[in-house]
Formats: sequence, C-alpha cells, structure tokens
Amino acid sequence: MAEIRLENIQKYFGAVHVIREVNLTIKDREFCVLLGPSGCGKTTTLRAIAGLEEIDEGRILIDGKPVQDLHASDRDIAFVFQLYALYPHLTVFENLAFPLRATRMPDAGVRKSVTSVAEAIGITHLLKLRPSALSGGDMQRVAIGRALVRRPKALLMDEPIGALDAKLREQMRVELKRLHLENGSTSIYVTHDQVEAMSLADTVVVMHDGVLQQVGSPSEVYLRPANLFVAQFIGSPVMNIADAQFRQEAGRSSVVLHGEAFEIPSQALTMIASKPAKDIALGIRPEGVVLSHAESPGAHQVGVHLIQPYGPFDIVDLTVGTSTLRARTASGFVSGKGQRVWASLDASQAHFFDKATGASLGFRLE
Ligand SMILES: Nc1ncnc2c1ncn2[C@@H]1O[C@H](COP(=O)(O)OP(=O)(O)O)[C@@H](O)[C@H]1O
Ligand SMILES: [Mg+2]
Repeated sequence: MAEIRLENIQKYFGAVHVIREVNLTIKDREFCVLLGPSGCGKTTTLRAIAGLEEIDEGRILIDGKPVQDLHASDRDIAFVFQLYALYPHLTVFENLAFPLRATRMPDAGVRKSVTSVAEAIGITHLLKLRPSALSGGDMQRVAIGRALVRRPKALLMDEPIGALDAKLREQMRVELKRLHLENGSTSIYVTHDQVEAMSLADTVVVMHDGVLQQVGSPSEVYLRPANLFVAQFIGSPVMNIADAQFRQEAGRSSVVLHGEAFEIPSQALTMIASKPAKDIALGIRPEGVVLSHAESPGAHQVGVHLIQPYGPFDIVDLTVGTSTLRARTASGFVSGKGQRVWASLDASQAHFFDKATGASLGFRLE
C-alpha cells in the first residue's frame, strides 16, 4: 500500500494542453475519485500515474520515490479498464492466476492467492467458467480480482462499471466500497458520474479542462463548492444560479434574482461588501428554496410551471421574473401547474460567487 503524489504535472497532446499543473496527494489507503466531464483529462492522468502515458513536466512519487521515469511494469500499480480485457480462452481461475504465473509464483501460492481474492470479491462459484459464460458484472468482478491478486501498491480504475446497466452499477458500487473497506488499497477511481463519486470517495477531485477545481470530501465539495463549475457539476437537480443584486430598504435586506426580491439576513450584505467582487452570482440548491402555501415573512409569491415527481420528493419549477427557480418539496406539496405558492430562500444554504472569476466568496450564512 502506498501514498501517491503528483507534483506540477503537465501533459500535452500536440498543441493541446490536457493536464495543467496538477498537484495532488493521495494518502495511503485512501479512495480518491477523479470526477469531471468527458474529455477533461481523467484517463490521461490515470494512465500517467500507471506509466502508460509519458508526462511532459512534473514528478510522480509513490511512497516518496519518483517513478515518472520507470516503466509501467516497475511501478507496482494495477489498472482496471472500463472494458474488461479478460483472456477468453482461459478460465476465471487462470485469468486471476495470470499475473501471478507471470512472476513464476509456485502453484500452491497461486492457488492460495486466487482462492482468497475470489472469496473476497464473491466469485468463487465462477472459477471454472470461461469469460464467455459470464455476465457483464461478473466479468468486471473478475477484472478487479485480477488487478488485486498480486497485491499491488495501488489500484487504478477507469470508469470500471460505466458499461453496466443502472441497477448493476448500484450493486457494484456497494461491492467496491465494501471491498475497499476490507482491503484498504490506495485507490484512484475515475468517473464522470457524480453519484458514483460521492458514494465511493474518501476524497473527490473535481477536474475540468485539465485543471483540478477542488479536492475535498464528498460533503465538502457538496456543501462548500469552490467555484461555479463545482457547484453546478455536483448535485442533482443542478444548483440554481442567478445574477444577484442586493438591497437594503426599511431595515430589511434582500437579494434580487431575475427581478424579484427575496429577503436574506443583513449579514450577507455586510459579508459581500467586505469582498472585492463586483458582480455576484447567487447559488442555491433546490432544497434551499422553501415553499409554503401561506404568506410568510420574507417570502415571495410565485407560480408553478412544472412538477417532476421523484417518489420521495418532487422537484418544482417556479416562474421568477422571466426565469425559473427550482425547488425541492415534499411529494404532492403542489398539486399542479399554475398554482401560486410562497417561496423563500434558506439563507444558510445560499452560495455566493464572484461572477468575474467564478470563485466562491468563501462564506456561508448561519
Ligand atoms: N492519445 C491521444 N492523442 C491525442 N489527444 C488525446 C489522446 N488521448 C486523449 N486525448 C485528448 O486529451 C483530452 C483528455 O482526454 P481524456 O484524458 O481521455 O479525458 P477523460 O478521460 O476525462 O474523458 C481530450 O481532449 C482528448 O481528446
Ligand atoms: Mg476517460
């Protein structure tokens, strides 16, 4: 097991700068998830760590030792790809045994290691089968088993369950989490799926255009997004973002969104005045938009134009000025399109961003 450290990594494909000054430390036994949209450089970063891709600048350290000039096979890192590359002519047992036989491990040792890994990942009953007889989920279990069998220093996984159907992905997420809790191998897991990232990670690393946007625990990136990109990439339905103007009248403070005023604590105005930002965007997740049937202090009357029932809750689109504000309500709270309700903002869930840079102003209200 190992600590992995990336120092000032730069990578170009021709003129395209795909990894930009990436600095990151993944602690021993940590489960780190690289999360970002397609094309942002996740796979390239993972392949660089594994030694499958050369970097143009920077250092990669495993347990403090620079490895960027070592061949992939000398880095002692295992890689699981989205498409399980199993050997079709070998049984599951022999697929698992392959990396061990390559090191000329004696038969008894091979049998012991394969049996123990097969038990850990729950595929003992499949050992005699060939890959063609396996389901997609089982094939990926075998691929993960084969990566783990030689007890690598670290396990790298590139969208390993992306090709499976939704139900199986959910089941595999739980299995991967359990396996990591039992095994504790330092893991770097790549995905574009924020649900996967949030549910698996100790640390989420959000990436965009080759740049690390934020590194934090799932709750940190959710509750304190560092910038507008992270704020809108994490969370579903997506956070409401609107240009915000602030007003103080008759002892009341309000934020004007899409031309409509919502009351907020005056503390917000004091905090914003203390920041250099000129234009501010306010972000609030649907669960921070609070609806009521009766007029309440600080609330604003709005019309409902769309209801999406999710089961445990509804997502309701409200017309605010010329735009939409999305709220999360108890299911059935509003009965139909056109209904008028009172909306207020839960200021403790409001995020404030500098529009010029996209950066969070870095404070939350009580
Ligand atoms: N071998 C390659 N040659 C040229 N460009 C590449 C190569 N591999 C990836 N790219 C480009 O590098 C960028 C990052 O790709 P990748 O790391 O695969 O992103 P992700 O895994 O986040 O989808 C993309 O713009 C992609 O088109
Ligand atoms: Mg990729």
